[in-house]
Amino acid sequence: MKKLLALTAISLPALIAGASQRLVPVSTFNTQIIIGVDSAAAPSLVYYGPAVRGDLRQAALAALQGERQAAYPVYGNYPEGESALSVTMPDGNMTLDLIPAGEPKTECDHNGNSLTTIPLADRHYPVSVTLNYLAYPKEDVIETWADITNNGKKPVTMTRFESGTLPFRSDNAWMTSLYGTWANEGRVNNERLTPGMKVIQNKDGVRNSHTSHAEVFLSLDGKPAETSGRVIGAALLYGGNYRLRTVTDDHGGHRFFAGIHPDESAWKLMPGETFSTPRLALTYSANGMGEASRNFHRWGRNYHLAHGTEVNPILLNSWEGVYFNIDEPKMAAMMQDIADMGGELFVMDDGWFGRRDDDSSSLGDWEVDTRKLPHGIKGLTDEARRRGVKFGIWVEPEMTNSNSRLYREHPDWVIKAANRDIVEGRGGTQLVLDLSNPKVQDFIVNMVDTLLTNNPEIAYVKWDANAPVMQHGSQYLPADRQSELSIRFHRGLTSVMERIRAAHPDVAIQACASGGGRANYGILDNFDEFWVSDNTDAFQRLGAQWGLSYFFPAMAMGSHISAVPNHTTFRIVPLKFRCDVAMTGRLGMEIQPRDMSAQERDFCKGAIGAYKGFRDVVQLGDLYRLVSPFDNRGAVSLMYVSPDKQKGVFYWFRTNNDYSAPLASRPAMQGLDPEASYKVTEVNRIDLTPLPYEGEVFTGRFLMDNGLEMRTSHDLEWGKKTDYCSRVLLLEKQ
Ligand code: GLA
Repeated sequence: MKKLLALTAISLPALIAGASQRLVPVSTFNTQIIIGVDSAAAPSLVYYGPAVRGDLRQAALAALQGERQAAYPVYGNYPEGESALSVTMPDGNMTLDLIPAGEPKTECDHNGNSLTTIPLADRHYPVSVTLNYLAYPKEDVIETWADITNNGKKPVTMTRFESGTLPFRSDNAWMTSLYGTWANEGRVNNERLTPGMKVIQNKDGVRNSHTSHAEVFLSLDGKPAETSGRVIGAALLYGGNYRLRTVTDDHGGHRFFAGIHPDESAWKLMPGETFSTPRLALTYSANGMGEASRNFHRWGRNYHLAHGTEVNPILLNSWEGVYFNIDEPKMAAMMQDIADMGGELFVMDDGWFGRRDDDSSSLGDWEVDTRKLPHGIKGLTDEARRRGVKFGIWVEPEMTNSNSRLYREHPDWVIKAANRDIVEGRGGTQLVLDLSNPKVQDFIVNMVDTLLTNNPEIAYVKWDANAPVMQHGSQYLPADRQSELSIRFHRGLTSVMERIRAAHPDVAIQACASGGGRANYGILDNFDEFWVSDNTDAFQRLGAQWGLSYFFPAMAMGSHISAVPNHTTFRIVPLKFRCDVAMTGRLGMEIQPRDMSAQERDFCKGAIGAYKGFRDVVQLGDLYRLVSPFDNRGAVSLMYVSPDKQKGVFYWFRTNNDYSAPLASRPAMQGLDPEASYKVTEVNRIDLTPLPYEGEVFTGRFLMDNGLEMRTSHDLEWGKKTDYCSRVLLLEKQ
């Protein structure tokens, strides 16, 4: 978590709104949360929406009379409602009654980000709660979380400790969330919020974004749209088990909750201890999901991705090319091939250590397999340097196999319940290490630190995690703390990552977890990017990357050109289409280049060269989603525009070749400067004849009003035509 820098208190911009209520605004450039603080009652969330210009009391007066919505509802009086916090006192009292316990305070750092804190305390018991609101003005994002402190002399037990809640009103509210599974990540679900509760949760323990995601959009004006309607975006920054809930009443009142999943996770809060919940990030747009996404992207790049303001390199990963069949000649050849194609980094995936010829052994035995690599990692980094590319390496540090030296020496280091047999995962032998145990944390830090220190030329680490928690039990935690395992595992992981980051700040690290199991802002602080999916089929990736783009910027999405037939779907997609799709994210390759023809390698070389020319636009620019793969319009289209609007990259993919199907062949562009003129150049062109507008100049206004008619099949010699068609157009301001 990037910390606020050098906080200085600023005068509290609070107003008196009535007899006793004080209004505390939390402001970004365009949005505002207003908290109503009474001296003798729990604070209420009065308003979240566009920044209120003028008197803040407008927001409070406009709210329905009597509609006092607790900013952080606790389990106390009126227990029939849902709550965010539930604490059992030493005497067995299960209720809380929080009132203000001091002045709200706002402090600012030199980036202009401001932290507002609202101190609360129980009327009777020595439990206090501080509500935090951290505003990022430029990004229009506000993070909120709670710090819960036991000021008493005896432990208290917390059975629920959510990060934040948000009341909102709409008679036609919709929720957009992401779901999926292995090889099918990032699917989009839109559903209307109807009376009752909707729950989105993940209890994998490790890979928390394969299935349900910890981010949602709440659309307040009916069905979600890209460019219109009021939208609240919410992202929980937590890589462990989580739960999101929406509770809807029969009068258009809704409340959103998000936090750590409380199931089997009771926490014993010791005297003097403070429990800080993970953060919940909120954004608001009056202009649809597109703007809400761009807010999250800017905030993610600036504050929650390692090196998020620098472009990521173009790489070749060895996995789908050679799988476990690693050896020096193959690695050297792949380095040469990616260098020849203009790539910048070669990543050696699984199979280099222990006796790892398949997935059934050796995790934890992180010594080089000298049968495969007689000259060790040094031999490889030397080779990479000679060939002019950087070197990266795969590790899976949180795991072991029952067939490993590590497990034989430390059977007590794995997650396992007392008096139960171990439950094994991938390869029939995989086990999860118990990261609540400081010895395990030290082992992992030491292993990665030694690898990176001994091999300072390692520029990139692919950090994988391929098993869920398969049994609840810690051999390290005492009996009365077993319920804290899941939270302590993730605290352990965060601490491990922070220690590694502190020692090796320049190394790029990819979060992978059986593909896209770790697309979550709770973990990405210490990572540069994530692997979207083990499904590298370009066609399938259009959907996965679209869904993930709701919350995550393109620079974070590893997007690789792979072989055909695809290794997961067995679909045969032409190379141009594969390259064009891969170029919508952080471009890479996941293929054995020696299996490609010289012509194919040349094509990739051209694509890589072109991408280098506009990768800053894709990775650091603003995304505009134009035609969704989930709308069945026969095509998918999106574009990126640089923040200064000098350059744009437009993509169009035909996804249905049925002549009777609708075809969105002329999407209007977005995000350009209407007054500027842009020259249009097709990238990765394979057609025999250029497009009619090749090299021509259009005003931004024309392109945004009308779009350009796509040629919907490629002009190729008979016999070379396929049922795929895609276009990439570079737009350069003249
Ligand atoms: C996981 C990852 C893959 C690859 C393999 C290696 O499945 O998602 O990309 O690294 O592990 O075993």
